[in-house]
Amino acid sequence: MRVLVTDPIADAGLDRLRTAGHTVDTAYDAEGSDLLAAVADANALIVRSGTEVTEAVFEAAPDLVIVGRAGIGVDNIDIDAATDHGVIVANAPEGNVRAAAEHTVAMTFAAARSIPQAHGRLRDGEWAKSDYLGTELNGKTLGIVGLGRVGQEVARRLGSLGMELAAYDPYIGQERADQLGAELVEFEACLDRADFLTVHTPLTPETEGLISTDELDSMAGGYLINCARGGVVDETALATAVENGTLAGAAVDVFADEPVSPDNPLLAVDDVVVTPHLGASTEAAQEHVATSIADQVVAAFENDPVANALNAPSIDESAFPRIEPYIGLAETAGKVAAQMFAGRTSTVRVRYEGDIADEDVEFVTASALKGVFEPLEWQVNAVNAPKIAEERGIEVTEEKTRQSDDFQSLITVTVGDGTDDIVVGATLFAGGDPRIVRIDGYRVDARPSGQMLVVRNYDRPGVLGLIGTVLGDSEVNIAGMFNGRETIGGEAMTVYNLDDPVPNDAVETIRADERIIDVTDITLSDGAGAGRSDD
Ligand code: NAD
Ligand code: MLT
Repeated sequence: MRVLVTDPIADAGLDRLRTAGHTVDTAYDAEGSDLLAAVADANALIVRSGTEVTEAVFEAAPDLVIVGRAGIGVDNIDIDAATDHGVIVANAPEGNVRAAAEHTVAMTFAAARSIPQAHGRLRDGEWAKSDYLGTELNGKTLGIVGLGRVGQEVARRLGSLGMELAAYDPYIGQERADQLGAELVEFEACLDRADFLTVHTPLTPETEGLISTDELDSMAGGYLINCARGGVVDETALATAVENGTLAGAAVDVFADEPVSPDNPLLAVDDVVVTPHLGASTEAAQEHVATSIADQVVAAFENDPVANALNAPSIDESAFPRIEPYIGLAETAGKVAAQMFAGRTSTVRVRYEGDIADEDVEFVTASALKGVFEPLEWQVNAVNAPKIAEERGIEVTEEKTRQSDDFQSLITVTVGDGTDDIVVGATLFAGGDPRIVRIDGYRVDARPSGQMLVVRNYDRPGVLGLIGTVLGDSEVNIAGMFNGRETIGGEAMTVYNLDDPVPNDAVETIRADERIIDVTDITLSDGAGAGRSDD
């Protein structure tokens, strides 16, 4: 088989591929038509962050089996296009975590003690001893935005240096934070309290521009460290905040566009320490990610399971036709439950009733988790969802019973935080027609698709009219509706299928009515998140 490597990786990885009998060609920094020509007859492509693996690459490479990312971030790979072309995408998420955490610590010290600036001046012959009065880390508060793999390692290291830890990560369980000695706080509190704020989220539509002028103003007098992804912090806002003294300093390893342009504003501010995306650049980390990705390429060629596949299902082929219809159903139930749940998810329970309970449902449960995490997470699929749950300290339970009172098969996904939860039940009607049939205590009959609005209200006259009018005024067309209630005059639930998204102000208007208990707008297409609002 032919493996094309277009970003430099450690020799150990190349050697492993050659030892396994494969041909390895390198075309470092190839782009545009050169890349398309080079990949044309490749069976595997190995990249880091430098190569943009677009739809065109998959079109140009009909024999491609796998794209391996020697590192974590896959923002440079079009995973949907890979899936469409039947190409596995795999990464090496563990190998450089320690290196990234250590670089973050180094950057924190560099900013706190102005090490690069003092170094530069001394090299220029200046003994600028009195110009630099550093900040001790001991006793200061470290705000951590994103307490995943790297964030946790940073917490361990800087916590052991005497820093107080305040973390914001809506998807991490309290127990995991407790183990690290970190206090889980809201985003604003994290900004307010941080003497040093370090960012460790992926770059997603939700985190893009997460930290800009207002957030930097909240951190007045502090330092910002970004060794995650450039787009998470607004570069112009950061340069301005350090330049005008709002922040004491910053340290940045990653940029929105890399290699960074010489006129990037961050390069012009003296109190901003910069490095050229060096977080993972240690010998050990590079060797680790290179051998990890080489092993996965070899496994893919041999049709063995690929350890960190981001888009490849691994299911027993003979059972697949029986469970296939339930994969999408479980994912949908998970998505609806996650979007309706307002708390910090710490438990997910997936219950199977009826015929489906006879099957091996591991992949179906993984699909339910994918549904739960997708509105919240980055690069989740049914393959990596169980691992994501484990890493986040989320307890996942699976229950089965052959008995089902009302349906041939019923899947119920319950998302909770230990005290509160949301229960969503789904089934397939004749012809494989998916339906949401339970939401919390309510029996409903709702077709899950596109945009939905779930309204819980007191059963009083005029509520349906109110909602219809508000949606109509917002030019939102109602495609279908199901209304159910507990008792006359008690509580009721209405589920709407809509042709268009509901504008926020329309949700607010509905919510403001005293007959409304809560409103949730749900998006089922594109994996996008949605808001919940309670009275
Ligand atoms: P991870 O997936 O293990 O952790 C990311 C965490 O961010 C998760 O816990 C997630 O719940 C949280 N998160 C997601 N959205 C959030 C939001 N809106 N607010 C707060 N938290 C949110 O990822 P990781 O392996 O720890 O990597 C973290 C980042 O570091 C990634 O962007 C990765 O690409 C980057 N990275 C950079 C280098 C480098 O060379 N500089 C090296 C390794 C990783
Ligand atoms: C990663 O995503 O793994 C890092 O950004 C490191 C890198 O590949 O340079």
